[in-house]
Amino acid sequence: MEKPLLLYIFLLYWHFLNALFTVEAPQSLYTVEHGNNVTMECTFPVNGKLKFGDLSVSWEKKDKLKKQVYVLLKGEEDFKSQHSDFRGRIKLLKENLNLGQSLLQITDVKLRDAGVYRCLIGYGGADYKTINLRVKAPYRTITQGVVSTGGNKWKLTCKSEGYPQAEVIWQNREYEDLTDKANTSYETGSDQLYRVTSTLTIKSRTDEIFYCIFWNKELQENTSAVLHIADSADGVLWTESRHFVGAILIVTAFFGSVLLVMLCLRKARANKDNRTPVATSSTAKLSKDKDTYDCRDASSEDREMKCKYK
Ligand SMILES: *[C@@H]1O[C@H](CO)[C@@H](O)[C@H](O)[C@H]1NC(C)=O
Ligand SMILES: *[C@@H]1O[C@H](CO)[C@@H](O)[C@H](O)[C@H]1NC(C)=O
Ligand SMILES: *[C@@H]1O[C@H](CO)[C@@H](O)[C@H](O)[C@H]1NC(C)=O
Repeated sequence: MEKPLLLYIFLLYWHFLNALFTVEAPQSLYTVEHGNNVTMECTFPVNGKLKFGDLSVSWEKKDKLKKQVYVLLKGEEDFKSQHSDFRGRIKLLKENLNLGQSLLQITDVKLRDAGVYRCLIGYGGADYKTINLRVKAPYRTITQGVVSTGGNKWKLTCKSEGYPQAEVIWQNREYEDLTDKANTSYETGSDQLYRVTSTLTIKSRTDEIFYCIFWNKELQENTSAVLHIADSADGVLWTESRHFVGAILIVTAFFGSVLLVMLCLRKARANKDNRTPVATSSTAKLSKDKDTYDCRDASSEDREMKCKYK
C-alpha cells in the first residue's frame, strides 16, 4: 500500500513541477547557409529577478553519440565538456537569460552542424525541447565551358559546388531532356561540399542553346546556366576562315597584277628596244616607265588592249 502511494505523490509532484516549469522552443526548425551564423532560442519562465546561481542551461546535439555544445551549471559556465566540433564557435547570450531566453549562437556554421539539438534548462524545475538545424550550401555559381571537338560535335561542361548532392539535368532549346547523354561526377572535400562536374557531348549546329540545371532535391532549389553554341567559339572559326579567304584573294590579286605588270613591261621594253636601246634593265626604273604606269592604271580588259596595241 505504501509504494503506490509514494508513486502517486511523486507523479503529482512531477506534474506540478512540469506545469510550473516549461521550456518552449518558439522555432523548432532553423535553416542556415554554411559559413553564416545562427542563433537558436529556447524560453523558460523567470518569475521576478533571475537567481543566476540556481540556473542550469545545457545545449547538446543528438548525434550517434551525444555531443555537448554548451553547459552552464548552477551559474557557472563549463567549457571542459564541450565537444571539439564546436570549439570557439559557441556563445550563449547571457544577458538574455534574465528575460527567460536561452539563446545559443553558433558562428561560421559547418555542414556537420546540421542535426537535432536539445536545449535543457533547470531552474527549480527542469524541462527540455528539441530543435532541428538544417545547413545548406546552394549551388550558386555555375562555371561553364563550350568546346568544339571537331565536326559539329561539342563538349559542354557545367561545374558548381554545394550541399546536399545535386542532380544535373541537361535540356536543349525545346526543354527536351538530354540528361542520359551527360556524364556527372561528384567529389567531396573535408568541408563536405559536393564539387559537381557535368559534361554533355552532343552534335549540334551553331547558334543553339543548351541548359544545365543543378537540381538540389532536398532543398527544392534549382540553379541553371545557359550555354550558347555559336558566338564565341564559332565566331573565332568564322573570322579565321574569312581572313583565310581574304588572304587568298589578296595573294591571287597580287600575283595576277605582278604577272600583268611583267607582261606589260616586256611589251614596253620590246617597244622601247625597237625605238631606243636602253642599257639598264632595272625593274625599279622600268616600273616608273610611263607605259607601264598607264598599263597598270587601266582596267584589266583595257590593259590587255593597251598592252597589245603598244
Ligand atoms: C558571425 O558572428 C561573428 C561574431 O559575432 C561576426 O564577426 C561575423 O561577422 C558574423 N558573420 C556573419 C556572416 O554574419
Ligand atoms: C562517363 O565518364 C566515364 C569516366 O570518365 C566514362 O568511362 C564513361 O564512358 C562516360 N559516360 C558517358 C555517357 O560519356
Ligand atoms: C527543378 O528542376 C527539375 C528538373 O527540371 C524539376 O523536375 C523540378 O520541379 C524543379 N524544381 C523546382 C523547385 O523548380
